Amino acid sequence: SVTRREDYLVPDWMVPETSLDFALDPAATTVEATLSVERNGEHDRPLRLDGDGLTPELVRVDGEDWSNWCMDGPTLVIELPGASHTVETRVTICPERNTQLMGLYSSGGILCTQCEAEGFRRITFFPDRPDVLSRYKVRMTADKARYPILLANGDPVASGDAGDGRHWAEWGDPFPKPSYLFALVAGDLAANRATFTTQSGRDVQLAIWVREKDLPRTDHALHALKTAMAWDEATYGREYDLDVFNIVAVDDFNFGAMENKGLNIFNSRYILADPDTATDYDYDGIAGVVAHEYFHNWSGNRITCRDWFQLSLKEGFTVFRDQSFSADQGSHAVKRIEDVRALRAAQFPEDAGPLAHPVRPDAYQEISNFYTATIYNKGAELIRMMATMLGPQRFRAATDLYFDRFDGTAATCEDFVTCMEEAGGIDLIQFRRWYSQAGTPRVTATLTHEAGGGRAVLSLRQTVPPTPGQPVKEPMVLPLRIKLFGSDTGAELGDEHLVLLSGESEEIIFEGISERPVLSINRGFSAPVIVETNRTPADLAFLSARDDDPFARYEAMQQLMLDTLVASVTHGRAEHDNVVEAVRNTLGDETLDSAFIAEAVLLPSESFIGDQMPLVDPEAIHRAREALRRDLGRSLEREWRAAYEQAKANRFEYSPAAKGARRLKTVALGYITASGAPDAASLAFVQFEQADNMTDRQGALTTLAGGTSDERVAALDIFYNRYSDNSLVLDKWFSTQALSARDDTPEQVEQLARHPDFKLSNPNRARSLIGAFSVNQRAFHDASGRGYRFVADQLIALDKINPQTAAKLLPPLGRWKRVDAKRAEMMRAELERILAVPGLSKDMFEQASKSLEG
Ligand code: ARG
Ligand code: ZN
Repeated sequence: SVTRREDYLVPDWMVPETSLDFALDPAATTVEATLSVERNGEHDRPLRLDGDGLTPELVRVDGEDWSNWCMDGPTLVIELPGASHTVETRVTICPERNTQLMGLYSSGGILCTQCEAEGFRRITFFPDRPDVLSRYKVRMTADKARYPILLANGDPVASGDAGDGRHWAEWGDPFPKPSYLFALVAGDLAANRATFTTQSGRDVQLAIWVREKDLPRTDHALHALKTAMAWDEATYGREYDLDVFNIVAVDDFNFGAMENKGLNIFNSRYILADPDTATDYDYDGIAGVVAHEYFHNWSGNRITCRDWFQLSLKEGFTVFRDQSFSADQGSHAVKRIEDVRALRAAQFPEDAGPLAHPVRPDAYQEISNFYTATIYNKGAELIRMMATMLGPQRFRAATDLYFDRFDGTAATCEDFVTCMEEAGGIDLIQFRRWYSQAGTPRVTATLTHEAGGGRAVLSLRQTVPPTPGQPVKEPMVLPLRIKLFGSDTGAELGDEHLVLLSGESEEIIFEGISERPVLSINRGFSAPVIVETNRTPADLAFLSARDDDPFARYEAMQQLMLDTLVASVTHGRAEHDNVVEAVRNTLGDETLDSAFIAEAVLLPSESFIGDQMPLVDPEAIHRAREALRRDLGRSLEREWRAAYEQAKANRFEYSPAAKGARRLKTVALGYITASGAPDAASLAFVQFEQADNMTDRQGALTTLAGGTSDERVAALDIFYNRYSDNSLVLDKWFSTQALSARDDTPEQVEQLARHPDFKLSNPNRARSLIGAFSVNQRAFHDASGRGYRFVADQLIALDKINPQTAAKLLPPLGRWKRVDAKRAEMMRAELERILAVPGLSKDMFEQASKSLEG
């Protein structure tokens, strides 16, 4: 069944107060709920309480046993005579058999919850929708030895002994909140604690709770939390509002983390880090996610969403906030490059495929399928465009207005845009199409120059492609930062312009342009669009060396590489000299930092190359990319070795400069390997063995894993044995092999799925093999079809355990329109096989059926 945005109705009943009493036990937890309910408006409809797999053991109204209720499917329907009542229910649930990891479940002996989006209804009967805000009191009793720590939202109220080896605790959250922000945790946990003093002078007790043995790996997350709290005060004027802030890390978690009020629950991969087990990428991810969940306290919790169609209201804005935070901790340019790369890798294909949907969707079958790159990352780009158009001061005034006006309410994307308009003093009528129209706009930019008259004309044209359910599109507002450079002198020909392209086409005239201009466009990736220009390889090489916007420099190099690779795939071969010279130039540029150089000299991924082509030929793309890698490796071998030696000298330190050096080192190692140098494998093995950190060790392992050396086998064994008791590192062992460029990767992955350490029940482990493999374009699209079959087999098995995680891994199978007819037919056959599975979840049904329709 389909839920539609246009069908939104205000709740029939509000629930101002909720009190919950949990008798916790992994096999049978009883939940007694007491709700004060109030009829909302004039109507005579009954109270409908959502449930999922619950049986009411007791229903009481105003303290009396009540019989005027019935079940409507999973929903408890209670007839009530008056305008306000107290409703009590009791249910029993079984956390240890909850493999979906939604509701109350057990992870490694810790009882924890995940309620967003609709998990609370698996715990108790409730109007489980985000616009019903309630003040919660929670009481828990549990076995003292197994669950010495009892946590819930808000501040602790009281605790004590309950006799019989049990104890109890009460928590109260003064802030009304929707049910999806409810959380509790019970377990044998230890805390890494700190105090944060807010800007107004209030002390907040911070704690990160993990199993005792993991305590030494929590300092980075705790430091990130304090940094994020100070940043949100300085940047948005947002202060924390409770006396305690708790974070708990668990090993089994469906996504990254969850922003429950005062009690964030995290996938342990986004908390635990030390140099020996976590890469720089992991460290950055931890800081980003810790900040993200913390920032939700304002953008998500204090102001929540009216309905789930508004999900990007909190997610897009919060991603924008965490991206800005991370940029401020290091290099803005490198962070922007990473974010754009992620957008292009995940969101552009989504927007171009059968699962494309607007940032504010119109309909869904299963809301958890809509926690997508479009809602999160494209949503963040929408906020960024508004921030660009407003400028920093007016943007801050607009967010102040938003936080002030909607505090304590459940708001809409429209509310946010209205604040941008009011405080920004601009009209965003047409801009709103970004919320309603799916698909990545495509811009054609043609620059012509009349040498005699000194005039340059930039012709811009936009099209928005059709997407499922949206065959015809209106033009969007595209904020494009543009600048011209003189191709002879390298001089800037005037200042940067912010062009707001709003029509289908537009011409911009530049006067007084006496030398041939080169176009720098969409600088900083100011609009999330695809730009096609008439720039020559020489123009791109020029910009890659001279542009003053670092993102544009990176982009010019990427475009040069892409043009070369696409030509090579199309014609079987291509001239590599332009790329080689541009890379040589970048490597030798002493004004650039290592992290930027490492990003700039990296070739686009095989799948991104495929995205540029009418049809993906995975083998041809692989060959073309490998050939260019080999040429770059050979032609610049001396430079790579010099860069490698220089970067090698450093001892481990987590600082932007040291991270950059490590990144460039492994990129250089990759090119030395690609050159075919006879000592490459031993060089990689030495790096692997002597590394004092996981970034270097995994970098070397990845390099070896793509080859056929004896060192490869040795390194994989050593790595496995060294880290066999650390599941987060074992995930890397699986994913490194699944991402390998070797010819036999499909077979290797099938074997790994039979490895004793592979288990589908842990989402991280499932993703480390299935998720990694399906983004390995050549291996996944193996001409035999075994890659498709493998993924389908795994997802069918996973759907029975954890449908949400299974459905999230399905989209690669739906990209059948992007490959040749033979492959497409095999992919469709797997989708059909999935759809024929008896008892398929609605999560999988929605993803597979939409993917099959195309
Ligand atoms: N709100 C969480 C976050 O952005 C993620 C929740 C994901 N929920 C889901 N059903 N996929 O940090
Ligand atoms: Zn979020």
